[in-house]
Amino acid sequence: MATGEALVGENARDLAEQRREEQRRERAKREREKAALGGLWSRRDVIGRFGWILFGAFSLTTILAAVRSAFPRVLFLPPSTFKAGSPKDFAMGEVSEKFKKDFRVWIVREPEGFYALFAKCTHLGCTPRWLLAEAKFKCPCHGSGFYRSGINFEGPAPRPLERVKITLADDGQLVVDKGVKFLFEKGQWGKPGSFVKA
Ligand code: FES
Repeated sequence: MATGEALVGENARDLAEQRREEQRRERAKREREKAALGGLWSRRDVIGRFGWILFGAFSLTTILAAVRSAFPRVLFLPPSTFKAGSPKDFAMGEVSEKFKKDFRVWIVREPEGFYALFAKCTHLGCTPRWLLAEAKFKCPCHGSGFYRSGINFEGPAPRPLERVKITLADDGQLVVDKGVKFLFEKGQWGKPGSFVKA
């Protein structure tokens, strides 16, 4: 029994010694390959370094993406306030569409003064059109109609168009502030800013 155990131990030692010898030979072979290449990288070195470069690039991209996501893109909207020019630039009775494209606002001139209407249908938010021949605003989406005052009279729109603040600046120009709204149904069309005498 004791002899059998001794044999097993001897075999294990032989195997370990054999493995160490193989490793020594492998190392020596790599050294010889390196020497033969005169300091140039072996194929194994090249593959290893390429792998690290890929890993580095991937890590860097991930870090940059994380940093970038911490700074969301800023959406530049037109400022809510804009100067609309002098009152004499508007013809009596005119519904001016000059600022509709950039600011979504109509400026209406009446004999007593001006008001500004927000060009957004009160049904589902489409942009109505001013139909000069019919003297009305007409929404192309579901057919709502509004008088030049902004009051709704046909179609599904549940309430009049909204007015936005209009005042006169010190230099005599009209100033519109879309940040301040006046709703007819809340009795706000008589408030200062919903109309300006000029
Ligand atoms: S969005 Fe204007 S009528 Fe529907």
